[in-house]
Amino acid sequence: MKLKVSVAGATGWVGKPLCKAVSEANDLSLVGAVSRTHKGHNLKDVFGDPNLDLTVSKSVAEALETPTDVLVDYTKADVVKANVMTAIGKGVCVVIGSSGLTDQDFSEINQAALDNGVGVIAAGNFAITAVLLQRFACEAAKYLSHWEIIDYASDAKKDAPSGTTRELAFRLSQIRKPEVTHPISQTIGESQSRGVTLAGSQIHSIRLPSYIIGVEAIFGAKDERLTIRHDAGSGAEPYIEGTLLAIRKVRDQIGLIRGLDKIMG
Ligand SMILES: NC(=O)c1ccc[n+]([C@@H]2O[C@H](COP(=O)([O-])OP(=O)(O)OC[C@H]3O[C@@H](n4cnc5c(N)ncnc54)[C@H](OP(=O)(O)O)[C@@H]3O)[C@@H](O)[C@H]2O)c1
Repeated sequence: MKLKVSVAGATGWVGKPLCKAVSEANDLSLVGAVSRTHKGHNLKDVFGDPNLDLTVSKSVAEALETPTDVLVDYTKADVVKANVMTAIGKGVCVVIGSSGLTDQDFSEINQAALDNGVGVIAAGNFAITAVLLQRFACEAAKYLSHWEIIDYASDAKKDAPSGTTRELAFRLSQIRKPEVTHPISQTIGESQSRGVTLAGSQIHSIRLPSYIIGVEAIFGAKDERLTIRHDAGSGAEPYIEGTLLAIRKVRDQIGLIRGLDKIMG
């Protein structure tokens, strides 16, 4: 039996190659696609691919009228939570790729998933190199007590910090809270220039043309420094394999799992 998958944000930068990958996988079946711009059109005409023969829905609620096992969300920060809650309420498992959700949002999503007996997997970054950055940074945090994070993205990105950065701060907070030698609140001058404190880590977001998405964890110690950095390229391919893995694993548990490495071998 193939897993029935619906993609919200189907026509987007990640959504489009994801729809193709799902339709080409032997064990998966693309049963739903959501896009407001292309609602009512056939996806095969939108993509020029005869294998993608299904009608685009205007909303997640409409798409889930078709029996679905897993909803994947690659939309936007302002709609992802509502989409996820709609799916959970219908007993549909969810894979969250969209950024913008806070730790509080994830806590509410976890509770809703537990209440409804469904699985949810979220990753701020589904690329293997970003997973490795998280893993190496968490290892470094066991030995080095001072760090700050720089969050890089294009000037067009509306939400900040990125999902990659939020997840890194969350994961580091599970190792320990970093030490701050001079309290941020006692900064002389403009304390905002010290960035925002998120899950204990100090975050500095940069939004400039020519950046795609990147994150840099800087660890400082007496007379030495360690920098661990991830930079995404301009293609969406690195996110596809990780998302497919999450689709295949999400029905194995109830509640929320945050981070691709939690489901990797
Ligand atoms: N976790 C990861 O590994 C990863 C990797 C890359 C990107 N992301 C995140 O994934 C999300 C999507 O990124 P992208 O670059 O693919 O975006 P994109 O190219 O702008 O595509 C967004 C998609 O969502 C739909 N959409 C946009 N606004 C919407 C709204 N208000 N309500 C419903 N649908 C809406 C768009 O179609 P319509 O406008 O036609 O509805 C489009 O299909 C972002 O949050 C991004 O940060 C995560």
